[in-house]
Amino acid sequence: MAYMKKKTNEAMTVGVLTSGGDAPGMNAAVRAVVRCGIVAGFQVKGIRRGYTGLLEEDIFDMNARSVADIIQKGGTILYTARCPEMMRPEGQEKAAFILKKHGIDALVVIGGDGSYRGALALSREGINVVGIPGTIDLDIACTDYTIGFDTALNTAMEAIDKVRDTSASHERCSIIEVMGRKAGHIALWSGIATGAEEVLVTERYDYDEQKIIDNIIEKKKLGKKLHIIINAEGIGDSNGMAKRIEAATGLETRATIIGYMQRGGSPTCRDRVMASAMGAKAIEILAEGKTKRIVAWKNGVFCDYDIEEALEMQKDLNDDLWEISRKLCR
Ligand code: ADP
Ligand code: F6P
Repeated sequence: MAYMKKKTNEAMTVGVLTSGGDAPGMNAAVRAVVRCGIVAGFQVKGIRRGYTGLLEEDIFDMNARSVADIIQKGGTILYTARCPEMMRPEGQEKAAFILKKHGIDALVVIGGDGSYRGALALSREGINVVGIPGTIDLDIACTDYTIGFDTALNTAMEAIDKVRDTSASHERCSIIEVMGRKAGHIALWSGIATGAEEVLVTERYDYDEQKIIDNIIEKKKLGKKLHIIINAEGIGDSNGMAKRIEAATGLETRATIIGYMQRGGSPTCRDRVMASAMGAKAIEILAEGKTKRIVAWKNGVFCDYDIEEALEMQKDLNDDLWEISRKLCR
C-alpha cells in the first residue's frame, strides 16, 4: 500500500539519506531532491550517516539554503555509513517506526544495491521509498549510469597516465589496481582510455597467469618497453602478482593500488548533471504517487524500475567495449 497517498503533496514529508560507499555527485543529488521537493510542495528532512543515523534519529529539516554551495563538492554533506543493524528485521522495524515518528512519509535513498535492500525492507513496513543509483562501481543492473562513475573513472585515468610515465622511463611492467568491488567497469573503461596491455576483470579473467607472462615476454621481444596491466579490485593480490610476474619475466614489475582517491574529488560535469536529473526524477516519482522504485538511466532516457525487479537483474560488462579493448591491446 502506498502510505503517501493518504496525504496531499503539500503535507508530504520526504527524508533523504546517502548510504554505502560515497560517490562524487551525491551532493548534487541531495541538492536536487531538496530543491525539487520544495518546488513540489514537500517538506524535506535530511538524515545523516545513512541507516545508522536513521536508527540514531539524526534527522534535521532541510531547505533550499541547506544545499547551497555543494554541487561542486565531493563526498556527501549527509555523511554515509554501513549499518549492520539494518540487515536485521528488528533494525528495519525500528527504522520504519522512527521515520513514522518524525512524520516522514517517503524516503529517498542514494546508494547502491545494498542500500536498496534496506529501502525494500522499509517499503514492506509501509514507507514509500525511491532509490537513486549512487556508486562509483556502475554495478547496478537496471541502469546504464550510476552517480560517481565518471569522476572515479577520470581520477583512475589520470593516475594510470602518471604511472605510465614512470613505467616508461624505467621500462617496467606496472600493475594498477582500480576499485569496483566485484565489478570490472572502472577497469575496462580506464584500460581502454589508457591503452593498457591487459585488463583483468572477474567477469572475464580465467586466472591463467602464465598467459599474461607469455604475453609480456612476447611483447618485450617485439620491442615493447612497458607493459600496463589494469586489475579490477575483485581480482585481488596485485602485489603478489607483481612479484610473480617479475620473477617469471625478468622485467621489473611494480603494483600500484589507486584506492580511495577514486571515491573523492569534485564531481565531473557529467556526474553533476546526471545526479541533478536523478534527484529531480526521484521527486517526480513520489509526486506521481509511486513507491518502491529505483531511478535509472536506460537507453538514453530517465526512467524507473520496481526495486524488487531491479535487484533481480544481472549486469555484465559491455561486450562491445570488452571486444574493443581486446583488439586495441596489441
Ligand atoms: P551499497 O549500497 O553501496 O551497495 P552496502 O552493500 O554496503 O553498500 O549497503 C549499504 C547499507 O545498506 C548496509 O550497511 C546496510 O545498512 C544496508 N543493507 C545492505 N544489505 C541489506 C539487506 N540485505 N537488507 C537490509 N539492509 C541492507
Ligand atoms: O562501492 C564503492 C567501493 O569504493 C568499491 O569500489 C569498494 O570495493 C568499496 O566501496 C570499498 O568500501 P570501503 O569504503 O568499505 O572500504
